[in-house]
Amino acid sequence: MHGTRVLFLSFLSAVGILAQPSPDLQKRISAAIAQAANSNGTKPDYTLFVNTFIGTDNYGDVCPGASIPFGMVKFTTDMTGYAPAGYVADNTTFIRGLSPLHDSGTGSSLGTYGNFEIMPSICPGGFNSCNTTLLNRQRLRKLYNDDGSPGYFSLTLDNEIKMEATATRRAGLERFNFPDGVKPYFVLDLANDLPASFAGGQLDIDPRKGRVTIGGKYGSSFGPGRYNYQAFACYDLLDGGKQQLDEYGVWTGDNYGLDAKGLGQTHLNMSLNLIGGIYQSGALFSYKNNPKTVNIRVGISFRSTDQACQNAEQEIGSASFEDIEKRAKQLWQEKLSKIEVDVAGTSPDVVEMLYSSLYRAALTPNNATGESQGLFEHTRSPYFDSLYCSWDTFRTFFPLMSLHSPVEFSEIVETYIDGWRKNGWMPECRANNLPGWTQGGSSADNIVSHFALNYHNEARRLGVDLDELYDALKTDGEQNPPEWNTQGRQVNVYKRYGYVPFAVLDVSSTGRQTREGSRTLEYAFEDFGIRQVALLLGKGHDVDTYTNRSLSYRNVWDPSVESDGFKGFSQKRYSNGTFFYNDPTHCSPKDSDPDRACSLQGNNLNGFYESSSWEYSWYAPHDTAYLIKLMGGNETFVKRLDHFFEKGYYLAENEPSFQTPIGYHYANHPAQSVDRVREVVFKNFNVSAAGIPGNDDQAAMASLLTFHLLGLYPVPSTSQLLILSPFTPKYTIHNSYLNVSTTVTVKNFDLKSVQKVIPEGTAAYVANVTINGKAAASRCHFDFYDTFKKGGNIEITLTADKAAADDCLGALPESLSTGGFSKTR
Ligand SMILES: *[C@@H]1O[C@H](CO)[C@@H](O)[C@H](O)[C@H]1NC(C)=O
Ligand SMILES: *[C@@H]1O[C@H](CO)[C@@H](O)[C@H](O)[C@H]1NC(C)=O
Ligand SMILES: *[C@@H]1O[C@H](CO)[C@@H](O)[C@H](O)[C@H]1NC(C)=O
Ligand SMILES: *[C@@H]1O[C@H](CO)[C@@H](O)[C@H](O)[C@H]1NC(C)=O
Ligand SMILES: *[C@@H]1O[C@H](CO)[C@@H](O)[C@H](O)[C@H]1NC(C)=O
Ligand SMILES: *[C@@H]1O[C@H](CO)[C@@H](O)[C@H](O)[C@H]1NC(C)=O
Ligand SMILES: *[C@@H]1O[C@H](CO)[C@@H](O)[C@H](O)[C@H]1NC(C)=O
Ligand SMILES: *[C@@H]1O[C@H](CO)[C@@H](O)[C@H](O)[C@H]1NC(C)=O
Ligand SMILES: *[C@@H]1O[C@H](CO)[C@@H](O)[C@H](O)[C@H]1NC(C)=O
Ligand SMILES: *[C@@H]1O[C@H](CO)[C@@H](O)[C@H](O)[C@H]1NC(C)=O
Ligand SMILES: *[C@@H]1O[C@H](CO)[C@@H](O)[C@H](O)[C@H]1NC(C)=O
Repeated sequence: MHGTRVLFLSFLSAVGILAQPSPDLQKRISAAIAQAANSNGTKPDYTLFVNTFIGTDNYGDVCPGASIPFGMVKFTTDMTGYAPAGYVADNTTFIRGLSPLHDSGTGSSLGTYGNFEIMPSICPGGFNSCNTTLLNRQRLRKLYNDDGSPGYFSLTLDNEIKMEATATRRAGLERFNFPDGVKPYFVLDLANDLPASFAGGQLDIDPRKGRVTIGGKYGSSFGPGRYNYQAFACYDLLDGGKQQLDEYGVWTGDNYGLDAKGLGQTHLNMSLNLIGGIYQSGALFSYKNNPKTVNIRVGISFRSTDQACQNAEQEIGSASFEDIEKRAKQLWQEKLSKIEVDVAGTSPDVVEMLYSSLYRAALTPNNATGESQGLFEHTRSPYFDSLYCSWDTFRTFFPLMSLHSPVEFSEIVETYIDGWRKNGWMPECRANNLPGWTQGGSSADNIVSHFALNYHNEARRLGVDLDELYDALKTDGEQNPPEWNTQGRQVNVYKRYGYVPFAVLDVSSTGRQTREGSRTLEYAFEDFGIRQVALLLGKGHDVDTYTNRSLSYRNVWDPSVESDGFKGFSQKRYSNGTFFYNDPTHCSPKDSDPDRACSLQGNNLNGFYESSSWEYSWYAPHDTAYLIKLMGGNETFVKRLDHFFEKGYYLAENEPSFQTPIGYHYANHPAQSVDRVREVVFKNFNVSAAGIPGNDDQAAMASLLTFHLLGLYPVPSTSQLLILSPFTPKYTIHNSYLNVSTTVTVKNFDLKSVQKVIPEGTAAYVANVTINGKAAASRCHFDFYDTFKKGGNIEITLTADKAAADDCLGALPESLSTGGFSKTR
């Protein structure tokens, strides 16, 4: 998901030259990996392998902030310019402050959260001379000093003030280091957030307690501007009495001369400013005795300032910065240990990419349980903020979670079902606690059905009621929402025509009339998700209905369209059946018009969302065998895939591309998928700040890369996993809920194969696979129930003989039209 900035972003990227993390960060990681490689069997500290700055350049939108796994807070600095996650590596941007609320990897160009910034400052002219407004207080950073690790973030400003942060779930500690002999001042912001969405709020200073409380209403970063959410902060300034306040007061300001301060005043009550931008305001305070270090404790709540203060008291109390950082690192170590690789046998870059990806795959969504608001205020369910968006995460993020973390997965599934209970439909996108924009329809269907297909035996014990889950699915599939931009699908017309027609009269629902081609393809796969649960629960009639509906992808297939000599492409279509021609290269990286609207814009006439017809025409993950027929058979299909990659139509930076490199498996050419995945990984991913090809999309990219490195690829809403060639000789996946561990051993693994082009004569292709000593039925796929769910040993033997390995030697990955998915496990 890229919001409205798409495609041409990659041409702007300054490829890592301006990357800011301290060079010591990479040295430290490399040393830790080298040490673990030599340490013969002792369990490594995996937090040392994580580079939190991967994806902070090149529009990766990753938040490198201090956080715990699924933390509600992520402390980082807010930069000027395009910086949706607050921080960006680009050293030409200015810093406006350090703040507790952020999302990671969301592509909203507006930016998300960034509320309650605090900016340390030196004001030689005293209180009234202090720079408080955004423009005046912003500063550059000291070059190559930014640092971070799981649970820790730091940045030093160009005036030598160092800012550090560490976090719990809903609170954090900030530590500021000032140059010798200066009086520390701080600006605390009430009204600014990254999307500039302040809609009114209050700030109060209690000088006796040394406490500032803030609360306000703010707007969504990726949803209708008319909705507001509330957020609260509690800043404790005295470090348990070790620090003394000197001056304190409030300020307001703008860029045109308003720069007013009230020394000694303690209250601000600002309402929504109806003309012009946000009305800038906040607190300003200083400390006595020129302390070199200032410690500030921050609590956050989505319910009240009281609860924000309580959260800080309960989660931090009087613990030291080091204690809190250590606790955070322990929580991260537990998450990162779920996949353990043979560090000694794996290339250091792969180790770093893998653990940094696993880190990000547990950074979001944000666990706001106990902090829900609005319709969800009294919910008894777990509550997660920032499901941002399901269209991004259903493909790889949740399937990865299902390999090792069913408890976390079940909590998030429950939050989706609760969304249906309270809102009427499952959330497609929840941004800032508010309904966000729909992208492909109701991708939550593929998320909850993936859970059901893989954990139905455990569902009840995990707190998920499958009947309710099914009701939620059926509602998404059957009930037309009045407004489907935020509520899901344009159900009625889709049911009536078998596709989402272009320019159709729809008298029962509103929504932006775009993306008819891709919405049809996505709805069809969502229907497959519903079908799978219907099959699981024995709902015979629904199985038929939804099996049929899942074949709707065929209804937007225009066999007459030709591009580069290949025939048959998905196209949008009028309600009278006539196709609306669009050049299939439109919205691909090779688009003749790089400014074409390809996202949610009303003038996206292309019919596809954030990708081209060239790419979307591969999209029927549940029935690729039939696509092969439509495209003219296996040979043409393979030629067409090769052409797609060679011509540069593949768009690595967006999710519809995720499943294309493994497409060869379906035409019985698994060795060619292996080559393609190597190429895709080394062309698009590395350990630099620019090391992901686009927006991380709440770790959709990170989990895709993880699957690639492990030599697996998941089919959502099924328990099937495709087998590829791992980038590591050995790894173990632990599932601590099921109490099972599964070790994958790769025989004949050759480090030389781990590069963009596998050198001839290098073992890299899957010769055979055994599962707990028994030969697998196919070299192309196996089932979760036989492998990671059961535990034990999987052996993958590689060969250099690519031709011999380029055959599944058994069943192809399943497709509906060839009798696949006929039963669930
Ligand atoms: C990392 O990948 C980015 C994006 O593809 C590329 O621009 C950069 O040069 C790569 N950096 C390294 C160190 O390979
Ligand atoms: C490493 O451990 C293995 C097995 O435990 C042992 O055989 C080997 O001697 C050890 N190597 C070193 C360098 O300690
Ligand atoms: C950013 O970094 C580059 C490369 O080190 C340097 O040339 C440039 O002066 C820096 N820009 C700023 C604004 O500090
Ligand atoms: C305040 O901001 C102005 C304009 O950016 C700058 O010239 C001035 O040096 C700043 N003062 C302090 C005390 O930082
Ligand atoms: C803030 O102002 C609003 C509108 O004037 C008023 O209703 C509200 O009571 C005030 N709240 C506080 C805490 O002062
Ligand atoms: C979310 O927070 C709740 C309340 O602290 C906790 O019980 C639950 O384990 C957390 N879940 C995750 C996935 O972090
Ligand atoms: C599904 O489609 C088949 C073939 O077109 C048709 O015979 C059957 O009646 C359909 N089933 C349902 C439930 O729509
Ligand atoms: C279908 O509708 C479109 C748009 O009104 C029109 O251009 C086209 O000719 C129609 N096709 C048929 C077969 O009537
Ligand atoms: C493609 O190849 C597979 C396996 O060799 C075969 O079963 C299938 O029928 C072929 N598909 C087509 C459309 O020819
Ligand atoms: C896993 O082990 C724990 C601790 O021994 C136990 O409480 C739990 O019931 C086990 N889970 C399963 C699914 O067997
Ligand atoms: C697995 O592949 C290896 C290498 O090609 C071969 O030596 C071995 O016989 C195969 N094993 C089975 C069970 O097919």
